[in-house]
Amino acid sequence: MAPVDDATGFAATAFPGATNSRIVAAYRQRTPGSGELACQAASLLPSGIAHDARHLDPYGVYIARAAGPHKWDVDGNRYIDFYGGHGALILGHCHPKVTAAVARAAGEGTQFGANHPGEIGWARAIQRLVPSAERVRFTSSGTEATLMAVRLARAFTGRDTVLRFKGHFHGWNDHMTHGHVSHFDGTPTTGVLAGVAESAILAPAGDLDAVAAILGRRTDIAAAILEPTGASFGQVPVDPDFLHGLRALTAQHGVLLIFDEVVTGFRTSRGGAQVAFGITPDLSTFAKIVAGGMPGAAVAGRRDILDLLDFAATEAAGREKINHPGTFNANPVSAAAGIACLTELAETDANDVADARAAELRDGLNAVLAAEDLPWAVYGTSSGFHLFTNPNRRPGIRPDRFDPYACSAEELKGGDKTLVGRLRLALLVNGVDVNQRLGGFTSATHSTTDIAETVAAWREAIRLLRAESALPV
Ligand SMILES: Cc1ncc(COP(=O)(O)O)c(C=O)c1O
Repeated sequence: MAPVDDATGFAATAFPGATNSRIVAAYRQRTPGSGELACQAASLLPSGIAHDARHLDPYGVYIARAAGPHKWDVDGNRYIDFYGGHGALILGHCHPKVTAAVARAAGEGTQFGANHPGEIGWARAIQRLVPSAERVRFTSSGTEATLMAVRLARAFTGRDTVLRFKGHFHGWNDHMTHGHVSHFDGTPTTGVLAGVAESAILAPAGDLDAVAAILGRRTDIAAAILEPTGASFGQVPVDPDFLHGLRALTAQHGVLLIFDEVVTGFRTSRGGAQVAFGITPDLSTFAKIVAGGMPGAAVAGRRDILDLLDFAATEAAGREKINHPGTFNANPVSAAAGIACLTELAETDANDVADARAAELRDGLNAVLAAEDLPWAVYGTSSGFHLFTNPNRRPGIRPDRFDPYACSAEELKGGDKTLVGRLRLALLVNGVDVNQRLGGFTSATHSTTDIAETVAAWREAIRLLRAESALPV
């Protein structure tokens, strides 16, 4: 039996170098076309990639096409896809109605430099599912939506500071970069001005007393913004009671409450987390599902707040309007995809199907962990799942009875990075793609067969890892 490293809890001989790993060798052998493209990309793109989450050692797969719950790489390998377009694809890849709407719209013109009927239909489709969306302003990405939400809050309240929660992600605009994966002390990440970072302060997520103390002490807080199911779509969950308490506290102090529903929107329920928990935020941000798999996003909420973007309302109120250009705001192709997707969610049981598949998947993966005697757990809600790899070697972890609320954020998000990367490769070798944290999303197109195949791939991946002496002994 391999000796255990006290610091990590993993076998001290863990992780043969990439050149000695049978998993890495199998991955390279299966994906020569991706390997070749990765070499070309390395001379053109920083790290050869376009999104940090796609960074994978030795390289990520290059995908040629996708349909429903599956995608195929340039070497012809098929993957059951739980990356789900970073959460955008609750209807799976190439949903026939969305694809038809996109093709029709693309044929009619991709950029009119003018208003178009689709933006009205898109806003109505959002309102139909999210009653708090009295007014909607479209942006091109979730990062822009949270940037605008914060600007609206500052302008509306006349206060400077935004309250954020440690570990919660809101995109990469300058107010949102510290305190997500680093700089929890509030210092700016590289390239961001200290003054900007100082204007977004961090509170511990889930701690209502801490929030009450901050709001009691400071009169400069314009808004509190959070991921309503917790950091990284609930990888570090927050209790709905905290949300209700936060709603009451923010209202009491004249602080706006912003739900960042970029991931939870139209997924935690059709109406997002706010409808699921019966809480009305002042502002919400949406992206991903809102645009049906195309680029697009929105900030939505109270009319009196979004009126700060309205020419007539600001003039009547004698206030300065917030400027908001944006070449691709409410792009007609994205609008068509968004309308088709949101209509499908409103009129079918797609959310329920995706939720049911995720529950089956969590159960199946946990059954393998139990059978393999691994003190890890798969958990999550609605159509998502997260993997807990027990970095602190907590005793008594039972996969089927795991309580993430009993663990710290560091534990839930922690874990041996090499182990996680190697396990991801082992899953890819077995035809399954999950995200860089080994979690992911189900869609309404995943079948029970896909889930069963994924559970079998999971078992095989764990055995491959065990064969490399890379798992806790
Ligand atoms: C909760 C949350 N907010 C904001 C963003 C940023 O959205 P985008 O990637 O569209 O800029 C993301 C992206 O994953 C997100 O998960």
